[in-house]
Amino acid sequence: MNAPIYLGVNVDHVATVRQARGTTYPDPVHAALIAEQAGADGITMHLREDRRHIQDHDIERFAASTQTKLNFEMAATAEMQALALRIKPRDVCLVPEKREELTTEGGLDVSANLDRITELTTALSESGIRTSLFIDPDPHQIDATRQAGAPVIELHTGRYAEADDDSARAQELAALQHAATYAHDLGLIVNAGHGLHYHNVQPIAAIGCIHELNIGHGLIARALFAGIEVATRDMKRLMIDARAHHV
Ligand code: PXP
Repeated sequence: MNAPIYLGVNVDHVATVRQARGTTYPDPVHAALIAEQAGADGITMHLREDRRHIQDHDIERFAASTQTKLNFEMAATAEMQALALRIKPRDVCLVPEKREELTTEGGLDVSANLDRITELTTALSESGIRTSLFIDPDPHQIDATRQAGAPVIELHTGRYAEADDDSARAQELAALQHAATYAHDLGLIVNAGHGLHYHNVQPIAAIGCIHELNIGHGLIARALFAGIEVATRDMKRLMIDARAHHV
């Protein structure tokens, strides 16, 4: 039997709309609770250092009311570490962060930052928090993740999502398939995300050893027209169908 596949809904861009006007609406926590009811298996929020979308109070309010789990995405800074240890989300996903980027542009360089990432992973783990490292589909980064003691990776699907043509997309898909299998065989839990939407999610969901997909922009964009409930249900259905037909 095929392993199940889980959907983490990233609600950052609900907060983007709110922050554009400095209002109290739309509330990303409200969106997160509806997504949970519609079948999301978890909610991701990225508290960026510049607070451009999610705010500290969003993390606090959602952590206190989640029915599923919070995946707290953050940079490996002392400020974010202190916050994570106070809020105690189920999962922390460590990402690289540059102020000028539009969104997270590449995976973490785990081997180049091994000491800091190991120290942070250990501190989080001692507090009962599971650490995931957001990395490119590169076996060296997977080896470094294991060295750092993190039990989970999230494979960066951005290059696959942004591929210019079918041949480049097939090449990126093959790299993701290979990396997912390599990491899974080492005993890591393998998640994936970035740039996934209704038209490109199924080949990724069909990779049998991928555990969870974290999806934000495409799903929130669909929710503008369909509502967050339908957007969440439709995405989960596509993922489950792709996994069911995987051989
Ligand atoms: N996973 C990680 C680690 C991310 O940084 C992001 C973007 O915040 C996502 C998943 C979701 O990407 P998207 O918004 O393109 O679906």
